[in-house]
Amino acid sequence: MRTERWQIEGDASLEEHPAIVRAAQVIRAGGLVAFPTETVYGLGANALDARAVAKIYEAKQRPLNDPLIVHIADLADLADLTDLTDLADLTDLADLTDLADLTQELTRTFWPGPLTLVLPRGPRVPPIISAGLDTIAVRMPDHPVAQALIRASGVPIAAPSANRFGHVSPTTAQHVLDDLDGRIDLVLDGGPTHIGVESTVLDLTADPPRILRPGGTTRERIEAVLTQLGKRLPIGDRHPILNPRSPTPQSSALPSPGMLPSHYAPQAELIICRDIGEMLARHSALAGRHKKVGLLILENQRAACENLYPQFVLGNTMNDVARNLYAGLRALDSAGVDVILVTDVPREGLGEAIADRLVRAATNNKMEREHALNWQP
Ligand code: TXA
Ligand code: MG
Repeated sequence: MRTERWQIEGDASLEEHPAIVRAAQVIRAGGLVAFPTETVYGLGANALDARAVAKIYEAKQRPLNDPLIVHIADLADLADLTDLTDLADLTDLADLTDLADLTQELTRTFWPGPLTLVLPRGPRVPPIISAGLDTIAVRMPDHPVAQALIRASGVPIAAPSANRFGHVSPTTAQHVLDDLDGRIDLVLDGGPTHIGVESTVLDLTADPPRILRPGGTTRERIEAVLTQLGKRLPIGDRHPILNPRSPTPQSSALPSPGMLPSHYAPQAELIICRDIGEMLARHSALAGRHKKVGLLILENQRAACENLYPQFVLGNTMNDVARNLYAGLRALDSAGVDVILVTDVPREGLGEAIADRLVRAATNNKMEREHALNWQP
């Protein structure tokens, strides 16, 4: 199939923009549309159409036991997707008011935005969305193009990140095409995404609620809201590999396959260095062994890395690093490097999501994995 590419910008009356009208037509006809969100590009299909959703798995070559996030544009649509009436078997939470209160407070604070909530799945939603789980992951993206597409389509949109399974998520339309050209119907090009790492996935069917995947909404901000409601997140949950989630007993679905160790991997081997000294030492050792080495660096590491190419500068702040990380991994991969070196980041704020993705991308490398495992809170 030929993949249509439509350019789209601005936020005035986007719903009537020809690109949105065309994309909504494709969604309603059961096709696949890649679109920008504030985190990464998603690969969307009508969430209420099981055949359309099956195409997502096929295009991405994603295993069917890996559940998808459903995207909505209006809070009222949450009620259609979830089932907050009969919780008996579905949640550890003591009672319904707990879950309703939590949901209300979290959506009020963080939606639209990079927080995905896992809730009991409603009867209208085809099981394929959730890989057969009784739960459903829902979020409201904070991006005018995503919102206009959902509204113009008139249906909730199921969308994983628009990359081949296991590859780095796309933050530009070109990244989407690099992975999926010819496998999807259309891509809406709304420019580079703002946050750059995926949404935080928070499971509200567990008591206490738990973060299944760190992401664009920080643990600290979620904790602040939960504390007000007398809830806390489980202690010691910060590290991605120290606390792998085991699959739920009755189902082969993975509770959050973002938790798979080797997700988000570039082609090159990624090595996480403790500091710039280790980075430079490794660089010369590897170069001595005729390896082609690429550097992912911060603005303030530029001087120390003068004349070492290829290099990709991520920026200054953790926001910059999150926004540019996947583009950097892809750029260095395209430059054909054998090894990518990067220095570790503190596990605070967005740093937790960044560290999580770095550790997963580095997971092929045993030593780095051990280094990561030795990290103490
Ligand atoms: O920022 C994002 O979340 C992006 C944009 C496109 O919205 N989407 C995204 O989707 O990252 P995906 O499919 O790449 O990751 C979805 C994550 C996976 O880790 C999946 O396991 C988890 O959400 N998930 C989905 N449904 C779930 C469920 N019912 N229970 C637990 N985890 C679930
Ligand atoms: Mg993904």
